Amino acid sequence: MKFTAAVTSVFFLIGSYFANGAVPEWGYHHGVDPKHWKYLFPTCGGMQQSPIDIKTSKVQTDITLEHFDLSKLSTAKNVELGIQKDGQTVQVGLKGQGLEVSGGGLPGTYVVEQLNLHWGSKNTRGSEHEINEKHFSMEMQVVMHTDIFPSVNDAMNCTNGLAVLSFLVDIGPHNHKFDEIINHLYSIEHIGGHAQLNSFSLTSLFPSTDYFYRYYGSLTTPPCFESVIWTIFKEQIYISEFQLNQFRQLGRAHFIGTGDLINNYRFPQPLNHRVVTSNFIQTNTIKTPKPLRVKIS
Ligand SMILES: *[C@@H]1O[C@H](CO)[C@@H](O)[C@H](O)[C@H]1NC(C)=O
Repeated sequence: MKFTAAVTSVFFLIGSYFANGAVPEWGYHHGVDPKHWKYLFPTCGGMQQSPIDIKTSKVQTDITLEHFDLSKLSTAKNVELGIQKDGQTVQVGLKGQGLEVSGGGLPGTYVVEQLNLHWGSKNTRGSEHEINEKHFSMEMQVVMHTDIFPSVNDAMNCTNGLAVLSFLVDIGPHNHKFDEIINHLYSIEHIGGHAQLNSFSLTSLFPSTDYFYRYYGSLTTPPCFESVIWTIFKEQIYISEFQLNQFRQLGRAHFIGTGDLINNYRFPQPLNHRVVTSNFIQTNTIKTPKPLRVKIS
């Protein structure tokens, strides 16, 4: 059954290829949808794909995962913000001196290159990663490449070439730390435009980064290379609905007529043989203790 379905899809793709005279484009709601990405990009059907649903009862504590060293990030100077459209997501490019991260169990130093934002049209959807099947309103992914390579593009096809720091975002009170980035995004009027942030601190957007989940996965967009060390922080970011609407509006303003900038997330992929670890002990998984048996000798 599965085989038949796959063959049909391939023929369908080939059919549309010839019909339009163009290579079909991947997308979320038009073009080739996430379920069929693997026919255009075989790696998207791999065994170590992202995102995933983190089942906290299956997470294993790894005491060797140390804290991140984000001190260089917080003092990075002259950060330049730019908006690009990569396939069907909004990418906020970051260029600056010293956007480096180490620690956190990473096998070296990684350099921040971009911020990817995934959101939904409703507050109940939007994140790519899920925790115990809970979806969040947005996910902010800080994409880094190993300092062995000069860019994400050069590193993305190498094992451990990339590392992503991911924050799950939910609706809460107004978060003034996001004002600067939202305002600057608005001042960029076209794709490829840039804004200079002289005193922008990326880490000011972060909640506590002390506790996190770790697993090995892939890019969540084609070509889905399995080169990413994922970190999902336990602490969420809260922004107001008004602020989230600014991001939604940003997509509409910059990519007119593209329904893909609403609900631009990939669904969780099979975990397969992988194990998610964390640098903390899951308190919510401690079972009701058995009655203590006191041995009287
Ligand atoms: C690199 O690309 C090739 C071909 O697309 C793929 O088979 C391989 O799995 C990729 N490597 C990683 C680490 O993703």
